[in-house]
Amino acid sequence: MKKRVAVCCSPLLVALWAAAVVCWAPLLEASMEAEELHLPGGVYGPESIAFDCRGEGPYAGVSDGRILKWKGPALGWTLFAVTSPNREGKECNGEPETEPACGRPLGLKFDHSSSSSSSSSCELYIADAYYGLLAVGPHGGLARQLASSAHGVPLRFTNALDIDSQNAAVYFTDSSTLFQRRVWVSSIMKGDKTGRLLKYDLRTKNVTVLLNGLAFPNGVALSTNSSFLIMAETGTLRILKFWLKGPKTHTAEIFAELERFPDNIKRTNNGDFWIAMNTARGKLETQTWTGESRGVTLQHGEVKIPWLRGDPVAVKLDERGAVKGMLDGGDGQALESVSEVEESRGRLWIGSAVKPYIGLIING
Ligand SMILES: *[C@@H]1O[C@H](CO)[C@@H](O)[C@H](O)[C@H]1NC(C)=O
Ligand SMILES: *[C@@H]1O[C@H](CO)[C@@H](O)[C@H](O)[C@H]1NC(C)=O
Repeated sequence: MKKRVAVCCSPLLVALWAAAVVCWAPLLEASMEAEELHLPGGVYGPESIAFDCRGEGPYAGVSDGRILKWKGPALGWTLFAVTSPNREGKECNGEPETEPACGRPLGLKFDHSSSSSSSSSCELYIADAYYGLLAVGPHGGLARQLASSAHGVPLRFTNALDIDSQNAAVYFTDSSTLFQRRVWVSSIMKGDKTGRLLKYDLRTKNVTVLLNGLAFPNGVALSTNSSFLIMAETGTLRILKFWLKGPKTHTAEIFAELERFPDNIKRTNNGDFWIAMNTARGKLETQTWTGESRGVTLQHGEVKIPWLRGDPVAVKLDERGAVKGMLDGGDGQALESVSEVEESRGRLWIGSAVKPYIGLIING
């Protein structure tokens, strides 16, 4: 079931990766290799990963506020876009106090709807922790701000997004109206429940609040036909399901309960969801945050993940919440802070809020 990850990187990193164990396709006896796609010197935290409409990339937002594009081994990383118009003359070095001026792009997603491979309409949507919801065209540059508040309350900590092109909607999360990203730990520790799930209408340009009173809403991903979305509520260690179609439209229920902090969620081509579980391998006092009332009525689902073994740093669930695979960190350093898992072209691209590289696991 589990396989040791083979290593094909610098000797220094061998030790790190050797500790990583993968069983993301438990029924498949495939040989796997792990690599590290290192960022340019001095930057870190490729929290979210995206590929454009021509399959180029990955693109990643990093600690100094830039969105970089990987152009292959010969050209390496190049600057693609920035979210802040205030970077001029500022020292954007990734230090937390520079984030408000420099921006910190978190959620990234290209609008693949244009279907054609024409690069003229492939917009990149960006959830920036300090600059709200933005978009930038295929040539990059300074992104234009689409939304900076919702129902009159400023977006304080925009975090993740997904796009329903057919219905011209972008769903996104604002993790807190009180705490900015630099002090996110306070939001968790204080049991802050001011987070919101939001919808941006691409036609009317209006922002609607779908859910509020959330404890650190984080990753969000639509189901294949957009009949629902799932959203990580990091503060309660839960995945919520929010209906967008059918009789339960605009109601929430519990999709899964975890034992670690969920971060970003990415849907696979098969319609499954990879849920990254960022940090907190240590024992968590989860009781503090469960069972408290909130603004919406939640019904308990039937799904309970079997946390019997291993060191899960990401879990793959199908549309009904059944476990399809998991990424086991093997108690090593390499996968100690996984923020996102993007399954693309037979590979797992692994984002992190702290590492200076994108992890890459090849299922070959
Ligand atoms: C935008 O939302 C506001 C209030 O939610 C509403 O009054 C207005 O009609 C909406 N505008 C459009 C173009 O839908
Ligand atoms: C969406 O897909 C699910 C199966 O994944 C199906 O049960 C449901 O009826 C579909 N809903 C719509 C509105 O097409």
